[in-house]
Amino acid sequence: MTKRTFHVWRGGGEDGGLSQYEVEVNEGEVVLDILHRLQATQCPDLAVRWNCKAGKCGSCSVEINGRPRLSCMARMSTFEPEESITVTPMRTFPVIRDLVCDVSFNYQKAREIPSFTPPADSEPGDFRMAQADVSRMQEFRKCIECFLCQDVCHVIRDHEENKEAFSGPRFLMRAAELEMHPEDTADRRKISQEEFGLGYCNITKCCTDVCPENIQITDNALIPLKERVADRQYDPVVWLGSKIGLR
Ligand code: SF4
Ligand code: F3S
Ligand code: FES
Repeated sequence: MTKRTFHVWRGGGEDGGLSQYEVEVNEGEVVLDILHRLQATQCPDLAVRWNCKAGKCGSCSVEINGRPRLSCMARMSTFEPEESITVTPMRTFPVIRDLVCDVSFNYQKAREIPSFTPPADSEPGDFRMAQADVSRMQEFRKCIECFLCQDVCHVIRDHEENKEAFSGPRFLMRAAELEMHPEDTADRRKISQEEFGLGYCNITKCCTDVCPENIQITDNALIPLKERVADRQYDPVVWLGSKIGLR
């Protein structure tokens, strides 16, 4: 057992601040264990969101020493022995209290993506998918909706005014997933650009860097979606069709 110095955000977004605690740490523990120990000892009213403690529910997202991470996957053994550890709520979303944010922005954006649209005459069991198409989408389906990618993306992290126009990497990835589905009939290229703010993404790849599921958000979803949008914009037949009102 050792003692470590923790700085933890307490209070709301505007009126909150960091509080310092000296906490016991045991072998094999993760940051979430330490937050639970704080709740059990020094600050029983500390607000922390969590559920599975296994990296699968996406609830325990916070920023640890400024980096968006799952607290249940942040091993204490990975910090330097003398390093103090700062835990703050995700910066991009309004703080409710302590480490708990209001992430409803993400649910609102999720609702804006048109759902899967198979052909009207498609009957259950009709459709067969090539393994390559299944594999491509399965990567995106690993998403645990932790919203760390949404938190880190500078387009909304530093620019509250962009939130209305930008869906964020998680939901642009959802648009890409559906756009790549061979049975989906909706065309999401125009709305991805014009309504979901795909053009705001300048492929910094910070979203990919923080994804706990190691989804290649930028390379496998956002860039292919950008390429499809460019194909649409620069295809002369599509361009002519849009001018005469056919597309
Ligand atoms: Fe979290 Fe990755 Fe899903 Fe983004 S894409 S919400 S970082 S699991
Ligand atoms: Fe943001 Fe990811 Fe693009 S961090 S700018 S959505 S590559
Ligand atoms: Fe479920 Fe951390 S508690 S992902």
